[in-house]
Parts: sequence; C-alpha cells; structure tokens
Amino acid sequence: MKAAVTIKAGAPSIIEIQEVQQPALKAGWVLIAVKAFGLNRSELFTRRGESPGVSFPRIQGIECVGVIKEDPSGTYTNGQQVAAIMGGMGRFFDGGYAEYALVPLEIVFPFVSQLPWETLGAIPEMFQTVSGSLNQALEIKGGETLLIRGGTSSIGMLACQLARAKGLTVISTTRNPEKKQALTSNGADHVVIDSGTVAAQVREIFPEGVHKVLELIGTRTLKDSLKCIATKGMVCMTGILGNEWTMHDFTPMGDIPSLGRLTVYMGESKNLSKNLLQDFINEVERGTIKLNIDRVFKLEDVPVAHQYMEDNKAKGKLVVLV
Ligand SMILES: NC(=O)c1ccc[n+]([C@@H]2O[C@H](COP(=O)([O-])OP(=O)(O)OC[C@H]3O[C@@H](n4cnc5c(N)ncnc54)[C@H](OP(=O)(O)O)[C@@H]3O)[C@@H](O)[C@H]2O)c1
Repeated sequence: MKAAVTIKAGAPSIIEIQEVQQPALKAGWVLIAVKAFGLNRSELFTRRGESPGVSFPRIQGIECVGVIKEDPSGTYTNGQQVAAIMGGMGRFFDGGYAEYALVPLEIVFPFVSQLPWETLGAIPEMFQTVSGSLNQALEIKGGETLLIRGGTSSIGMLACQLARAKGLTVISTTRNPEKKQALTSNGADHVVIDSGTVAAQVREIFPEGVHKVLELIGTRTLKDSLKCIATKGMVCMTGILGNEWTMHDFTPMGDIPSLGRLTVYMGESKNLSKNLLQDFINEVERGTIKLNIDRVFKLEDVPVAHQYMEDNKAKGKLVVLV
C-alpha cells in the first residue's frame, strides 16, 4: 500500500511517500481502507521528535475516516463507514497517513453519512476536541459568556459555532485585524485583537469578566486569560498555538483569582461517543454547522501539507484525501 512515512524526526521533507506492506490482521484490531484524514498540530510536534515515546520510522496520523476492509471480530461489516481517533494511533502504532490503517476496536466509531470524504475527514478529532473542551471540561451552559483565545484556529471557529448554538455569548480573539470579519461571519458576538493581553478589552465588554475561557494559545497568554474570568469563572487550556509548553513563572495564589478555576483538556477516544459523533455529522449534513476547511491535499502531498501547517498558512482545517 502507499503511505506517507516519517522516516526520522525532522522537517516536513523528512516525510517520504513509500510502498509499504499492508498491516497484517490481528485479534481485537480492524483494518480500515482510509478515505481521508485531518491534519493536526500534534502531528507536527510528533514529526519534529517532540512526542515522548514515539519511535521512527512511523506512519503518522492520529485520526482517519474510511470504510471497514476487514474486522476479524465481526463487530463491523465490510464497507461500513467508520472513523478512528487517538489511542496511540500514528504515535505508538502506525496511523492514518496511508491507504490502510490497522487500529484497535475501541478507537473505532461507526457512522452513516452522504457527506463527501473530504468533509468527513475534517470532523473526528476537531469535533472531539471542541465538544470535550466545551462540554466536559468547561461545562458550558446557555446564557454564559465565553472567551475563545485563538479564535481563528479550526478548533476556535468550531467552538464558537457550538457555543452560540447552545446560547452562549462569544468573544473571539485574533492577532490579525484582517481576520475580524471571518470571526464575525462565523458567529462571534465580539472580536478582540490580541496583542498578548486582552483582559482590559474583555472587561470593557463584560466589566464583571467572562464565565468561561477556551485557551488555545497556551502558556504565553494563560495568566492574562485568568485575568478575564468572573468570580468562579473557569479557564480551560486545550491548545498550545504559542508553541510554549512550560510556564516558568506561575504563582497559583495570585495568578489564579480567588475561587477561579483552571483546567486542561487532552482529548482521547474515550471522550467521544458514537451517538455524539453521528449527531454532529447530521448537523453538518443539515448545514446548521459550517466547517471551515482551508485546503484538501492528496496523500502524495503530505510533506507539502506539513510545511503549509508549519508556515501557519491555514485558515481552517487541513484535510488529506486518500
Ligand atoms: N487538547 C486536545 O485534545 C487538542 C486536540 C486537537 C488540537 N489541539 C490544539 O488546539 C490548538 C488549535 O489547533 P488547530 O488545528 O485548530 O489550529 P490552527 O487551525 O492551525 O490554528 C491557526 C491559528 O492559530 C493562530 N496562531 C498560530 N500561531 C500562533 C502563535 N504563535 N500565537 C498565537 N496564535 C497563533 C493564528 O491565529 P491569528 O493569526 O488569527 O492570531 C492561526 O490562524 C492547537 O494548539 C492544537 O495543538 C488540542
């Protein structure tokens, strides 16, 4: 089969398109004929050699959508539409950057849809992350206010739509004033230009602060995000767009306001359910949710797609059609 293989840690050009052996069936695992997959920033870190425990060469890809080629357990029928995400996929065992992927049963989610594969490919990991961050971590409720830090990211754009649909008022941020209209068109009630600190601007709009913050930039802006919350408000750090993992100067009693709450979301396949995924796919099919897909690449173009992601050129989800 054809696969995009990361032969060792390095730049995007380290990914080679190779003919490799199709994975051999084993009990408890299913073989998926991959139709499409979304690209994820964590794959960029893995390619650079920054994911602990990952050895090379490796077929990356933490998610895919496709059809069942063979399921020795008989749980799924051949040709059935499925998604697979996480559980070590593309890290500890070969993942979605290939014509076929062998994955454990517990990370497989069946669905039925008429949507094109490039649309379906954008969904699983993006939806799992947004739904888990908003509902499981931040426990959002209608009537609340939500600040999305890193609003133009694909996660941020979808989070805005799901929060608005649940009756929240949303402030989205971008560093780039030219992207203001894109955020408004996506449903944001307010847009704030982020030059590193936004707390003063947020409190001009909501003097008491916001109920919830979805922090996608990470440690670089976390302290300022904590300054944006109302009493008993909550910040959830889900993203690390600022490329800084560790915060060197943090004083919990001081940086977290009294009664304020700070959490993180690191989604796994167990955070998703078959029903949640199918319901979301149905919403996309009905057109009530609009996915922001920036570009669709071919499997042969995975190195180019990684470079595109590295250069921060995307204004939405990147998808590869196999
Ligand atoms: N925790 C989890 O389970 C999980 C799962 C999936 C993804 N994530 C994380 O969620 C975040 C968003 O992912 P994504 O794929 O949606 O991202 P994306 O679409 O690639 O985000 C692109 C946007 O990020 C902003 N950005 C880029 N570099 C930045 C920097 N240095 N400082 C501030 N903003 C910067 C830019 O916004 P502007 O130019 O408009 O400012 C750009 O439009 C990532 O950190 C990703 O790793 C987490």
